[in-house]
Amino acid sequence: MGRIAYVDGRYSPHQDAAVHVEDRGFQFSDGVYEVAVCIDGTLVDLNSHLDRLERSLSELEITPPTTRKVLEMLMKQLLARNGVRDGLVYIQVTRGTAPRDHAFPANVKPTLVMTTKRVDHLHQKNILEGVKIVTTPDLRWARCDIKSVSLLPNCIAKTEARRAGAGEAWMVDSDGCVTEGTSSNAWIVTHNDKLLTRATTDNILRGVTRGTLMDLAKEMSLTFEERPFTVEEAKSAREAFSSSATSFVTPVVQIDNTVLGNGAPGLFTERLQGRYFKYCVNKESEL
Ligand code: PDD
Repeated sequence: MGRIAYVDGRYSPHQDAAVHVEDRGFQFSDGVYEVAVCIDGTLVDLNSHLDRLERSLSELEITPPTTRKVLEMLMKQLLARNGVRDGLVYIQVTRGTAPRDHAFPANVKPTLVMTTKRVDHLHQKNILEGVKIVTTPDLRWARCDIKSVSLLPNCIAKTEARRAGAGEAWMVDSDGCVTEGTSSNAWIVTHNDKLLTRATTDNILRGVTRGTLMDLAKEMSLTFEERPFTVEEAKSAREAFSSSATSFVTPVVQIDNTVLGNGAPGLFTERLQGRYFKYCVNKESEL
């Protein structure tokens, strides 16, 4: 059976699934999205992803396409239809289809699109061996707290990373401080064993994985602080890593031309990564 996508109440073969040419997601990137990971049939941190989706929709005054309960059921149904027990579900909601005009149209029906993908998360090379990252100016707007599909600056930065043979780019503000990755949150571990990541009030995305890692760090009695750090601080840090639903805890072993430590994933990062894997696999995330 081929891959099936969901578009506005219809299930169709992935390659045929389409939205209208005047969908505002297509014309203005007027939409929001979520990516949730499924491990052994369980969606990790599902409630936090749905909370954030509801918040993104509300901040942009987009009508929710359906109730939360129905959305949850549709996500699970699509995963089941595609036989995905280990993978991800992508949800996108746009304001809907309307004649092209920049201002938000009244009474428009939102478009809901969902796709799934099979991924063997826990055996990904980058996650196990770590990645190189590059740093690049943050070209984004002032509402990065909204998980909008308007991702062009992120795409430019990620392309730069790929071309440099790196796994991710960390974006840097005008003060020389790291904001976040193109599709992940950025963390360092200082030489006095403190975890540092930027506060979510600082125009970055409130990562669901970031939130869970903070809870786990507390439980492990690791100290952490939410504050900006410079690129120089990151390069001289003891360890560094990125976090996201799909990259879990990915060790950073090199920043631009600077190799961190001995160029292998650090011990703190590995401990936290191990604890996070356990959290995902043991279905604690269902609670
Ligand atoms: N990206 N920051 C940005 C800019 C992101 O796009 C993401 C997630 C994160 C981490 O958020 P979370 O822990 O909730 O996944 C931080 C998803 C995975 C993506 O765009 O594919």
